Amino acid sequence: MAKIVTHFPRLIILQVMRILSGKEVVQARRKKIAEKVQQLKNNKGITPGLAVVLVGEDPASQVYVRNKAKACDEVGINSFEHKLPAETSADDLKKLIIELNNNKEVHGILVQLPLPKHLNTDEILQCIDPKKDPDALTTENMGLCWKGTPRVSACTPSGVMAILDYYKIEVAGKEAVVVGRSNIVGKPMAQLLLMADATVTLCHSKTKNLRKYTSQAEIVVVAAGRPLMLGKEDFKKGAVVIDVGMHRELIDGKTKLCGDVRFDELHDWVSAATPVPGGVGPMTITMLLENTFKLASF
Ligand SMILES: NC(=O)c1ccc[n+]([C@@H]2O[C@H](COP(=O)([O-])OP(=O)(O)OC[C@H]3O[C@@H](n4cnc5c(N)ncnc54)[C@H](OP(=O)(O)O)[C@@H]3O)[C@@H](O)[C@H]2O)c1
Repeated sequence: MAKIVTHFPRLIILQVMRILSGKEVVQARRKKIAEKVQQLKNNKGITPGLAVVLVGEDPASQVYVRNKAKACDEVGINSFEHKLPAETSADDLKKLIIELNNNKEVHGILVQLPLPKHLNTDEILQCIDPKKDPDALTTENMGLCWKGTPRVSACTPSGVMAILDYYKIEVAGKEAVVVGRSNIVGKPMAQLLLMADATVTLCHSKTKNLRKYTSQAEIVVVAAGRPLMLGKEDFKKGAVVIDVGMHRELIDGKTKLCGDVRFDELHDWVSAATPVPGGVGPMTITMLLENTFKLASF
């Protein structure tokens, strides 16, 4: 019998990874926020106001607070900075928060975390009027989120959803894994993905065989706070990988920013991923501006 020999070269299908740039999303969204803020001023005479409370002199927190003030300024939101010494008592801090709760010019109150160790973070956060809680950290706002009727949603997870939306990444019906279950990132992230109709698995430090979950998911959001913890072998081919982690590490003798994921390994394997820096990081402040605007317009 004649043997048929084909001379076509074998097709190698390479996965081309899309880089999901938060910077691009920020540009598009901030322009819209500035327009809406201007409309609110024109139509109702309301200028949204954000009060940021910083206790102590943590250098990273000082940078974040400065950046928040600058971002507010860019979109026409008033910002009020309250810097308190590290030894401030819980009573004094609560007194300030209550004053801000009653201040009509303030629509959002953000207590910069982490707080010094002698202060009980949850006790302090619960003093914020839920109607002025742009990070959705009060019990009322967390409850509303889980009920599926959020007043506002936590800023960093909302930023992740904004990236998925901007890049038209379908979420409904997808298998999603969130690594990390903090109140500020992991839990609200799982809730937002659930609200967007994904099937969600929430993993944490006690999860046995983490890779079993991450390597089956179509969308993985990593917020474990562990530098460069996950790499190519932890993800399914064609997955979408969102890295929330943010670390300053000594790499090749230089201090560099990195995330929880070894981004360089992902090319030709996953379908899309966020870099660090330039991915989720820039989104958080933008969502804070959006939430402050929303709280001012209720
Ligand atoms: N880009 C931004 O704007 C932004 C905003 C906020 C946070 N971040 C970054 O995101 C990361 C997470 O922040 P966070 O505030 O959520 O941190 P966190 O409060 O320390 O929470 C970390 C979570 O990860 C889990 N975890 C730790 N090690 C793990 C492991 N080996 N396997 C699986 N899960 C593990 C922990 O589990 P347990 O609950 O069992 O301890 C915990 O739930 C940090 O790097 C932070 O800097 C970035």
